Formats: sequence, C-alpha cells, structure tokens
Amino acid sequence: MSKRVAVSFAAMLAATVATFGVPAFAAANEPIQPIEAVKSNNPGLIELGKKLYFDPRLSKSGFISCNSCHNLSMGGTDNLKTSIGHNWQQGPINSPTVLNSSLNVAQFWDGRAMTLQEQAGGPIANPGEMGSTHALAVEVLRSIPEYVQEFKDVFGETKITIDEVTKAIAAFEETLVTPNSRFDKWLKGDKKALTTAELEGYELFKDSGCTACHNGSAVGGNTFQKMGVVEPYKTNNPAEGRFAVTKEEADRFNFKVPTLRNVALTYPYFHDGEAATLADAVDVMGRIQLGKKFSPDENAKIVAFLKTLTGDQPSFALPILPPSTDQTPKPRPFD
Ligand code: HEC
Ligand code: HEC
Repeated sequence: MSKRVAVSFAAMLAATVATFGVPAFAAANEPIQPIEAVKSNNPGLIELGKKLYFDPRLSKSGFISCNSCHNLSMGGTDNLKTSIGHNWQQGPINSPTVLNSSLNVAQFWDGRAMTLQEQAGGPIANPGEMGSTHALAVEVLRSIPEYVQEFKDVFGETKITIDEVTKAIAAFEETLVTPNSRFDKWLKGDKKALTTAELEGYELFKDSGCTACHNGSAVGGNTFQKMGVVEPYKTNNPAEGRFAVTKEEADRFNFKVPTLRNVALTYPYFHDGEAATLADAVDVMGRIQLGKKFSPDENAKIVAFLKTLTGDQPSFALPILPPSTDQTPKPRPFD
C-alpha cells in the first residue's frame, strides 16, 4: 500500500513540474517537455572530445573506444545484453545510451558519478572495460604531436592531464542531444506529427502512471526508483542499484530511471538487458511497476508511442585520428 502512495506522490510531483517548469510554447500541461538542440560555445574543446571518444588507444588493447560500447551509429549503445570489455570479458550490466546523458540527474544505473566528466575517467581505467590506466592513456596522447598541439590550442600551455581528457569528452557528450522527434513536434503544436494509435499510446502511457517515473525532457533520467514496485523483479544479475552507493536499505534495487528518448534504438532493455523487445519491456513495466496487465492492443499502442521518441541522431564527419609515433606505447590486446 505505502508503495502505491509513493508512486502517486511521484505522479503529483511530475504534474507539478509539468505545470510550472515548462516553456510557454510547449503543451503546458504535459509531463514531457521537448528536447532543445544545444548551442556549442567551445568548438575546439568539442572537436578534441570527439576524437578522444572515438580513439581506441585510450584502452590497453588499442581496440576499445567509448564508441565500442556507446556506438553513435546505434543509438549510443552496443545493443548487447551486457557489454564486452578488455580481453572479451563479459560485462556486468547493460550499457546505457550516451544520447541525452547530459540530462541525467547523475551517471550510471546507480548514479555513482555525479557528472559526465567524473564518469568519463571510469571506463578508461576499469579493468573490465578499457583496461588501461590514466597514466598510460595520458602517456599515449603525449607521444602524438598532433594531440599535444591540439591540447595546447584548447587548454593553453599543458602537459596533457586526465582531467583535460575527461573534460573534453564530457563537452563532446553534451552535444549528443536528440531534438526534433515526432513526439516533440507534436508537443510544439504540430498535431499531425502523431498518428491516432501513437496518440492513444501516449494517453495510455500517461493514464497508466508511466509518467510518474518517466517524465521531463528525457522521459526519465531524473530520479532513482525501485525496480519492482508492485511485484518483485526476478533476475540473476547481482546489481543492487542505488544501495551500492548509499548503503541505505531503502535504496536497494533502486535504479536510475532510464531515459526513453530513442528507446526504439537502445534495445535490449533493463539493467540486466533481459527484455529483448519494447513489447516485453512495456509488459514487465505495466505488471511490476503499476500492477497493470496491458492487452496486446494497448501494448502495441504504447510501443507505437515510444517509437515516436526517436530524435535527430548526432551527425558529423567521422574524426580522423592522428597516427601513433615510434614513442607511442604499443597496444596490448591479449594481456
Ligand atoms: C566495455 C564497454 C564500455 C566502454 C568501453 C565504455 N562504456 Fe560507458 N558504460 C558502459 C556500461 C556497461 C555502463 C553502465 C555501467 C553502470 O551503470 O554500472 C556505462 C555507462 C556510461 C555512462 C552513463 C550513462 C547513464 O545513463 O548512466 C556514460 C555517460 C558513459 N558510459 C560514457 C562512456 C565514455 C565517455 C566512455 C569512454 C571514455 C565509455 N563510456 C566507455 C560500457 C562501456
Ligand atoms: C515506479 C517508477 C516507474 C514506473 C511507474 C514505470 N517505470 Fe519504466 N522504468 C523504471 C525503472 C527504474 C527502469 C529501469 C529498471 C531496471 O533496468 O532495473 C525502467 C525501465 C523502463 C524501460 C526500459 C528502458 C531501458 O533503456 O532499459 C522501458 C521501455 C520503460 N521503463 C517503460 C515504462 C512504461 C511503458 C511504463 C508504464 C507502463 C513504465 N515504464 C512505468 C521506473 C518506472
């Protein structure tokens, strides 16, 4: 009972945010707001960050880049249940999208990094991901004159530090927003942007209570919530959620509510990657978060609505990376 109260309080909160936090042009009483394109004010920093994001030499193997697991040609994910790390290690958890990650309240499923910059240092030195060290990654960059010059142009006189590396990557990530989805066009007043079935799906999404947790411009990403409010969620994945960060019993199995922006591209779903399709994910959410069993028709309409959340994907020329030199530490893919 108390759990249901929590959800309806969240719904009230969402409604309050919707009433007061919305730009005048948007459909003012909707719990979801449009995503706006970002204006970049430091193109040099962003260009550098883009190179680093695509550079596999930040990994020990010389083979894994941020883009390996957050592939910008595939919705910013790897479309695997859990990721593949250094030396083909099985990753512990599903890779969330980097698209619109700047809108998250914190980074990671359990929110253990507060900012994109703090997050970016993690994978480079994680033995199960890129398997390098910050010292080695910086040594690689320092051995490449074009990088030395580019860091100098962006940061002034510098020896290249991991702090600058993560700052540049985060600046690039902040540009990875996806405006102009059909749903946003509808929010901004283009009533023809959605079909009847999609609109009915949106009404179901709201009326069923999904917007209690999936709201705001990212349609999620702004709170931590229990996975399994009404019914427990069964999984073999050992992740404990927010509890791992706060050690508060009340946070056990609370996960950051994922953004539903571009969700048609970011399969498979949930922190364990166990829901293969959107239809599965919607069915599980209905049952275990809200105690609702959707008919096949209702499920299909909600899925149709969710597919309207795909926005403009990042688009730019593939960065060409400066070549290594004789001094560059050699890649070590197999140890
Ligand atoms: C081996 C695969 C892999 C690589 C390489 C990798 N990531 Fe990740 N990334 C993940 C996984 C898995 C998670 C979720 C981990 C968790 O929540 O515990 C994640 C989480 C994130 C998040 C948080 C998103 C959210 O919604 O919480 C961001 C941002 C991110 N990674 C950016 C990067 C950047 C930048 C790099 C390169 C420096 C990178 N990742 C390299 C697999 C990878
Ligand atoms: C009580 C809060 C809450 C409610 C209500 C809720 N969700 Fe979720 N949703 C979550 C959380 C938390 C997750 C991540 C759970 C996990 O991976 O362990 C999630 C995950 C999802 C995902 C998977 C996204 C991904 O990238 O993995 C979809 C799709 C989704 N929800 C749709 C819905 C729909 C549709 C409804 C309404 C029927 C709904 N949710 C209701 C909290 C909620």
